[in-house]
Amino acid sequence: MSKTLPEGELAAKVVAWQKNHGRNSLPWQNTQDPYRVWLSEIMLQQTQVATVLGYFDRFLTAMPTVQHLAAASLDEVLGLWSGLGYYSRARNLHRCAQAVVEMHGGVFPRTADLLVTLPGIGRSTAAAISSLCFGERVAILDANVKRVVTRVLGFDGDLAQAAQERRLWDATTGLLPAPQVAPHTMARYTQGMMDLGATVCLPKKPACLLCPLMPDCRAQADGDPERYPVRSRKLKRSSQSLWLLWGQSADGAVWLAPRPTPGVWAGLQCFPLFDSESELRASLTHSQRVALQADPTFVHVLTHKDLHLHPWRLQLSRDAELDGLPGRWVGAAQWPALGLPAPIRKLLERG
Ligand code: ADE
Repeated sequence: MSKTLPEGELAAKVVAWQKNHGRNSLPWQNTQDPYRVWLSEIMLQQTQVATVLGYFDRFLTAMPTVQHLAAASLDEVLGLWSGLGYYSRARNLHRCAQAVVEMHGGVFPRTADLLVTLPGIGRSTAAAISSLCFGERVAILDANVKRVVTRVLGFDGDLAQAAQERRLWDATTGLLPAPQVAPHTMARYTQGMMDLGATVCLPKKPACLLCPLMPDCRAQADGDPERYPVRSRKLKRSSQSLWLLWGQSADGAVWLAPRPTPGVWAGLQCFPLFDSESELRASLTHSQRVALQADPTFVHVLTHKDLHLHPWRLQLSRDAELDGLPGRWVGAAQWPALGLPAPIRKLLERG
């Protein structure tokens, strides 16, 4: 698979590179506060740094401590998360805060082994928190770091197989800084691996000439770094059609109800959804059906699914409840603070 370097040698190059070329002034850096680091790691799991920058400080202002977050309502948390997507992260964040308060006296555990027992914290996130905050000598292996490690080592095991994924974890642990290094070195190493993956060792056209590991990189020597990581199984995408009942009152309020859990947009505030136009029509009275107006259909892309959305507007006076449908009228002033699915927000902004 690879040539062997002396223990910690590769790590030392990453650490030296990070000092001068890594990212060192993001709002969740230069702190050892696990609350801030945890929050940033969860936000960054499926979201670009540039997007997270618009949410992180606002979230912390509203929820300055894990105690505030634990005591907040889920609706408040989803409201602050609104627009970041992947809302299971926000639900787990809330549950995790409650677990930290109820089971750990409001103090985050200091080891990856304990952190991984909390809701929403996987092995790599646990290691990121404990290495960045407490200098624990544990490896992270998110998608960016997988690219760096598989390329450096020329690791061509198929990561769709759990056994190969385990081998890669072991190989990654073998690259850690030597055990005797200072704790702050571990933090810099972890950040350096993330930074290399995010800024140099890119999925397409990696900037190998800027990489401190180029002389050691097996994939670069073999001439085709983009071949890594190897993963045979492609995500199977599906598609689903949904009909949205866009109830509007005379004064501009819309009819919203929380989506059930589990399911698409669980916990978010949404127009009533139906699996077909006929089901949507069947939920209405005759006079309401006559007032229905079709809006243009559009596609909203989720991770595993394309949603084909068919909005139907229904203009009502405020008194006329949408009888039989759960929900309530919500005025425009309240929309910004609500947890709304992205396509619903788009429709509301368009008006
Ligand atoms: N992605 C995940 N964690 C990160 C971090 N700490 N800094 C920048 N990007 C990241």
